[in-house]
Amino acid sequence: MTDAHRSDIETVLTENRTFAPTAGWSSAGPGAEPVTPHVASMEQYREMHARSLADPEGFWGDIANELHWFKPWDKVLDWSAPDAKWFVGATTNLSYNCLDRHIDDGHGDDLALIWEGEPMDGGPEVKRFTYRELRAQVCKFANVLKSLGVKKGDVVTIYMPMVPEMAIAVLACARIGAPHSVIFGGFSASAIADRVVDANSKIIVTADGGWRRGSIVPLKDNVDAACTQCDTLDHVVVFERCGNDISWHHEPSNSHGDKRDHWWHDLMQAASEDCPAEHMDAEDPLFVLYTSGTTGKPKGIMHTTGGYMVFTYLTSKYVFDLHPDANQVYWCTADIGWITGHSYIVYGVMPNRVPTIMYEGAPNHPTPDRFWSIVERHKVTHFYTAPTAIRAFMKWGDNHPRKHNLQSLRVLGTVGEPINPEAWMWYHRIIGHEKCPIVDTWWQTETAGHMLTPLPAVTPTKPGSCTLPFFGVDAAIVSEDGVEQPNNTGGLLAIRKPWPGVLRGILGDRERFIDVYWSRIKDASGEPYYFPGDGARRDADGYFWIMGRVDDVINVSGHRLGTMEVESALVSHEAVVEAAVVGMPHEIKGTGIAAFVTLGPGFDADETLRKQLREHVGNEIGAIAKPDQIRFTEALPKTRSGKIMRRLLRDIAAGVEKVGDTTTLEDYSVLAKLRESKEG
Ligand code: WTA
Repeated sequence: MTDAHRSDIETVLTENRTFAPTAGWSSAGPGAEPVTPHVASMEQYREMHARSLADPEGFWGDIANELHWFKPWDKVLDWSAPDAKWFVGATTNLSYNCLDRHIDDGHGDDLALIWEGEPMDGGPEVKRFTYRELRAQVCKFANVLKSLGVKKGDVVTIYMPMVPEMAIAVLACARIGAPHSVIFGGFSASAIADRVVDANSKIIVTADGGWRRGSIVPLKDNVDAACTQCDTLDHVVVFERCGNDISWHHEPSNSHGDKRDHWWHDLMQAASEDCPAEHMDAEDPLFVLYTSGTTGKPKGIMHTTGGYMVFTYLTSKYVFDLHPDANQVYWCTADIGWITGHSYIVYGVMPNRVPTIMYEGAPNHPTPDRFWSIVERHKVTHFYTAPTAIRAFMKWGDNHPRKHNLQSLRVLGTVGEPINPEAWMWYHRIIGHEKCPIVDTWWQTETAGHMLTPLPAVTPTKPGSCTLPFFGVDAAIVSEDGVEQPNNTGGLLAIRKPWPGVLRGILGDRERFIDVYWSRIKDASGEPYYFPGDGARRDADGYFWIMGRVDDVINVSGHRLGTMEVESALVSHEAVVEAAVVGMPHEIKGTGIAAFVTLGPGFDADETLRKQLREHVGNEIGAIAKPDQIRFTEALPKTRSGKIMRRLLRDIAAGVEKVGDTTTLEDYSVLAKLRESKEG
């Protein structure tokens, strides 16, 4: 039997198999005394879940008491759909809860952050920070921001490689109450400009470059180019990472006469290590993070301080079973540029007093065993990654993980897209040695933290299912008109009540906030449900199975992109008249990008143009948005009312022989032409 046959059979066999919790399991790291899981049994989970829905104020009030507040709340929840206010009247500071709280408790010398750089010449470069050391750097940078005129409420843009200074910048913003807007380092100059303008941000923190697969990502060059496309930026702070040549702007860029570019190290030298944490109202903004939606440009999702803090703290604690003083070492492989990095590298993990790892570079540099070498050398106990990475590891071969001792691992997690059962089984066997529970966590930028997820070694798991709702999450599968669906019937996923991490809005667009999230589904009494944009079904055990987005958002390698964004990027090229973009199945990425393009007169549909268009999309958005397939076609299939029939395009991109219903197609000859359009 070939390997391919074996895995086909395995997929069928495991799809409906349940994995019982591992008996005698403990999340404690090597050499530590075993710890009792925070939630010990399914009965306890069910009781706690029931209480969290019946008495959300009591439940979340108790949890919030585990954290530090300058002033307690008057009321836990104030809900008037679609606006939720959590911990009304309270003041706190999230950087204080990540750092000072532990120092005050006598744990200042415990390890807070471990960083590893990508280059391996002469061994890996590793830096370690205790809570005290990290606080000193955070306070210094907070003072730097103040010296540049940043005040509470001003948006600070962060466009950095995965270096400790990125976490330091984020925490410094939280310390002084300046909401950050982190832009993933893979985005292009025009993506930066769009976000800077939308948030009216006057300062950007960047680096000369960042290491990725042995090459330098030219971050400062991208910022320079962005500055030519927007004129709000007064200050550019540059961390020196790679020592590459960059251009420098000494001239003032504003009427105050301040010079524009500053070296991070120059500013830090003079800054004091003392910066008291600002007392933030629980509903003061903590950050804005841009994410893709169905229409137009990415939207700035807004999160506030108190609810976000409590929700990411608790999900980190329970979903990974984090315990201080148990030799745990936690590693999430995401970039801080995405919500996963915000919540599960920095903000949720640090208040739990478990060291968190940041790794700068690619999983296969210099060799495909880099991740496993990190797990072995740092004795990682908790490992959280995306299914797309797991599929790449599978392809690279079992010999890479097998070279390393992975016995320290206790909990494995996945996020970002549905995981196929075959990848789940590989993760379970080859990485977890059949001893580590896998937590498949479903959530979104908008939810701040985990919504549907197993609890490790408590919830029996099924490969491919994100299992059951977390505390405070009242999830349902409904039809378009809000009627709850029977078991095993596909429908729209909807969430009934607000949870502490729910988004508070879209920056500058109240209408879109209500339209997208709070008007599509309502119950019989007219009460709106939160609508995440995903389709799902629930099985007879109450387990959720995510079926993917029901809108025009696609998850490419776990990164969220709007098909409309890619279409606008394509049509902004002079050769393109019309473009339609759809997702298509992709072995590694989960979903790949297929673009159908019609050209203007005089342009040749050839390889050179295809390459140009890919580059063009890369420049407009970023490399992650480059189409995997571009098909030149004479026309796009449209309904008689002129709507592009995306369903048909999806079928064609997927290579489906018999495409779905075409009765509304306006011009049948288009179908034949589309079939002839060659992929490439
Ligand atoms: C998808 C990432 C299936 C989903 C944290 C969601 C998932 C979108 C899972 C949010 C999962 C995330 N199983 N699908 N475990 N986790 N998704 O905002 O479609 O970048 O709506 O947040 O990713 O993507 P976002």
